[in-house]
Amino acid sequence: MKNAAASQYIHGSDPVEQARLSRLNDWLNRSCIAAMPLDASTMRILDVGSGLGQFTRAMASAISDEGTVLGIERDIRQLERAKELGTGDPMAVKVSYRQGDAGNLPLEAHEWGSFDLVHTRFVLEHVKRPEVIVRQMAAAVRPGGKVVLMDDDHANFRLSPEPPGFSIIWEAYMRSYERLGNDPFVGRRLVTLLKNEGLDSISTNLIFFGGSAEQEIFPVVASNLLGILIGSKDLMLAEGLIDERTFDASIAQIDEWSRLPDAVLWYGLNYAEGMRKNGGGK
Ligand SMILES: C[S@@+](CC[C@H](N)C(=O)[O-])C[C@H]1O[C@@H](n2cnc3c(N)ncnc32)[C@H](O)[C@@H]1O
Repeated sequence: MKNAAASQYIHGSDPVEQARLSRLNDWLNRSCIAAMPLDASTMRILDVGSGLGQFTRAMASAISDEGTVLGIERDIRQLERAKELGTGDPMAVKVSYRQGDAGNLPLEAHEWGSFDLVHTRFVLEHVKRPEVIVRQMAAAVRPGGKVVLMDDDHANFRLSPEPPGFSIIWEAYMRSYERLGNDPFVGRRLVTLLKNEGLDSISTNLIFFGGSAEQEIFPVVASNLLGILIGSKDLMLAEGLIDERTFDASIAQIDEWSRLPDAVLWYGLNYAEGMRKNGGGK
């Protein structure tokens, strides 16, 4: 089981990447919380791949005052930064973190089958075998509790007016996931992943993730796009997915696009939730 979901996380955890993730979180979290089955009756949440902990704390703010959220994260730097970012946030007292792998959750015997809600966001796209993680999540939730998956299907991405070099660089970016053994389209498989682990009452949604030039959010989504592409440049070049001249020209064209008065970016984050049957999993 230990290496079943072994993976390389494409974005890493250096300070520039942490800043990108943090900006994105501030903006996206409200829509994600609104989509989730959270209320004052939710007592215990497990957050798998908790990253910088912003969403972990956001979930804590949407549940019972006595509720708790346990974040599981593999990378020690993410865990350390998550603790720093929580300083001064009253929600941080409801949150605790544990280092461990999503494919081999570091839970105590009594914690399996005990959580009201088990959640993961932007993690399944970074692992080779997402089904191993969803199986662990289904085992961690209590009968009648919910498993919530949110993840990317990169084919959902659209820019308008489309910069000339966009399709080439986006294709290379998607292929770079595959070179790592990961699925850039895992978002479309979320319902299947839940169904295969015996979850019931499955529903799905698409969380809007974009904006047009005059919206306040636009610089964040545009710089996020440039950030993920530039951050993956070395991998794309090393894998021969694009040559450097084409890469640099595409980045310049996207940068130019981001200054257009009618620039638009549309993206939908795939969402699925399912309930563990009373009396067990499959
Ligand atoms: C893109 S971040 C998302 C963080 C958070 N879930 C969010 O939505 O803001 C993905 C996080 O998952 C962590 N991660 C990736 N693979 C993991 C694994 N197999 N086990 C635990 N954490 C993992 C990475 O270190 C990173 O912090």
